[in-house]
Amino acid sequence: MNSLTIGKLKLDGNLVLAPMSGITNLPSRLLCRKHGASLVYSEMTSSEAVVRQSLKSIERGFTCAGERPMGIQLMGAVPDNLAASAIFLQEKYRPELIDVNFGCPAQGVIKNGCGSGLLKKPELIGEIIRTLSDSLDIPLTAKIRILENFDETLKIAKIIEKAGADAITVHGRTQKQGYSGKSDLDFIKGIKSGLSIPVIANGDIFDEKTSQKVLEYTGCDGIMIGRAAIGNPFIFKKISYFLKTGEILPPREAGERLADFFEYTELCRNYGMHTYNDLKRNAQWFTKGMENVKQVRVNINKAHDIDSIMAIMNGLKDCV
Ligand SMILES: Cc1cc2nc3c(=O)[nH]c(=O)nc-3n(C[C@H](O)[C@H](O)[C@H](O)COP(=O)(O)O)c2cc1C
Repeated sequence: MNSLTIGKLKLDGNLVLAPMSGITNLPSRLLCRKHGASLVYSEMTSSEAVVRQSLKSIERGFTCAGERPMGIQLMGAVPDNLAASAIFLQEKYRPELIDVNFGCPAQGVIKNGCGSGLLKKPELIGEIIRTLSDSLDIPLTAKIRILENFDETLKIAKIIEKAGADAITVHGRTQKQGYSGKSDLDFIKGIKSGLSIPVIANGDIFDEKTSQKVLEYTGCDGIMIGRAAIGNPFIFKKISYFLKTGEILPPREAGERLADFFEYTELCRNYGMHTYNDLKRNAQWFTKGMENVKQVRVNINKAHDIDSIMAIMNGLKDCV
């Protein structure tokens, strides 16, 4: 497995956990790091909210020694506010990286001219990256979606490179596609060929074979994994093992997946992030695909408090 270097940051591999809003909190990132993710990103946080000193937004950057290296992802459209929030978070949490979101397709985000809404404004993208790279001591990355036209997508990627970003992640879908259709590997491959900075390929990497295919086909320096890691941090171990040895590890046993879930809940408790909604969603995710758990999953769905969910999951320990 190759290692990835982003500016002055040398990683021990090239598997990256995607930023996912409502999912990649500190406990889930810690589990992914433990199982072999070389770099993890926080959920996106709004630069405007950080500038307003919103505690909830600031705390999305909260980290600890065990998860490093980590990057904080910012979403915003005003260069000076992005820079002010990045400097603030750099000082407060000392992340290894700052990333800028140019990919989010959510209506609420593009309505404010942020996320993938910025792809229509290449000059502003350049200004954002230039302002941030001039302001920060740590490496800067950007995450984009593609446009329908390849040349326009490459133009944006080149603007990002020229303005001083140290790496770029490309999700091979357009804003309009959302999560439908397929991530376009030809676009990603073309962008990789046209740039000198590292390019990280993203979209539809679900297992060992898709990882290998994307790395070989696009020639990218790294891959970023999102949905396949939800409730399944072990995916990083499986993929890194396969890329090193060519062998596929057996699927994680139900008991081991439950152990991962309880480790997650323990971390949530330790970091004051133990909430009913998050626990319920994670109980569903960590039991997804297990055999003979249909009724258990129905029960999780009906459970009204943390204790009931924990009782259901503890009961499952005896059955697997
Ligand atoms: C629930 C969810 C939340 C997401 N939140 C973010 C986010 O905060 N920032 C971002 O850049 N991308 C976000 N994404 C997009 C992912 O980072 C990634 O680009 C996308 O899921 C494609 O990769 P995958 O096929 O490996 O899932 C999110 C995706 C999902 C499914």
